[in-house]
Amino acid sequence: MTALVAQGLRKSFGAVTALDGLDVEVEQGAFFGLLGPNGAGKSTFMSLVTGYQQADQGQLVLFGKPVDPANADQKRAIGFAPQHIALYKDLSAAANLSLFGRLYGLAGRELDRQVDAALELARLEDRRDDPVKTFSGGMMRRLNIAAALIHSPRLLLCDEPTVGVDPQSRNAIFETLTTLKDQGMTVVYSTHYMEEAERLCDRIAIIDQGRILRQDDLDGLLSDLPPVSAVRVRHDALDEAQAGALSRFGAVAHGPRALVVTPQDTFRLSHFYAWAEGEGLDARDVQVDRPTLENLFLQLTGRELRE
Ligand SMILES: Nc1ncnc2c1ncn2[C@@H]1O[C@H](COP(=O)(O)OP(=O)(O)O)[C@@H](O)[C@H]1O
Ligand SMILES: [Mg+2]
Repeated sequence: MTALVAQGLRKSFGAVTALDGLDVEVEQGAFFGLLGPNGAGKSTFMSLVTGYQQADQGQLVLFGKPVDPANADQKRAIGFAPQHIALYKDLSAAANLSLFGRLYGLAGRELDRQVDAALELARLEDRRDDPVKTFSGGMMRRLNIAAALIHSPRLLLCDEPTVGVDPQSRNAIFETLTTLKDQGMTVVYSTHYMEEAERLCDRIAIIDQGRILRQDDLDGLLSDLPPVSAVRVRHDALDEAQAGALSRFGAVAHGPRALVVTPQDTFRLSHFYAWAEGEGLDARDVQVDRPTLENLFLQLTGRELRE
């Protein structure tokens, strides 16, 4: 059974079209990345999955059943860590988790156990009784994710959890999410950081302007692009004739320390290396850039992914 299927989802806010016929399919156990710039529709999509808002058009099916905000089983199947932190700042970490747990009907020993497990997962055991307002942004973010997990959902929606987070918390979040994935949890993870999608996700959907442009695993996405996006050769390694000869491999631009060759269609790395070796260039003077998701995004949309 597929965890989540969206077909032709549309959602407008007045004149703004947030989702414009969005299709996605998330397999159970997948770590699914929703990669797109601000305003792409990531949060709107999650708000439809949680039943917080209704689509204008389209189908949304969760574990085989149409999404229905009145369905309590569906609510329990989803954990949602929203983009904007939803915690009570005056309450302690444990009190927040306990509150969310009780909202899901947990009580007694089971509640205590779940609170302890969530604190451990978020690595906040030693801060359990401190008010959330004393936490760093990264700690709040970790607790926000822990709160989404208090009722052991089958699907976790995690909306841009690392924005404005210190590197240490960011790594802790990655480790938490990787642990969940290893336990078989289905995760939908939105981000506008390509390196996060590359590192964490086994499937990536590139979203822009309310539509999915491509969805595949990383290798599949990158196979749309030529295997080499650029070759850089240090200026100081080249004499004038060698610098001139680079143009046979593609368009040449002058960078601060290197000449940057954007390969032409017929480019072969083996030909380039053969030439470089014949010219006595050192491998350390040459850098080969592989295409990235950023290159693909640029190709699909004509603009940079970064804001
Ligand atoms: N409640 C709302 N009212 C009006 N416009 C909204 C609302 N929610 C989202 N939008 C608009 O819908 C578009 C998609 O927003 P959003 O889903 O938040 O994108 P993302 O999460 O990818 O940054 C944006 O243009 C945003 O301004
Ligand atoms: Mg958002």
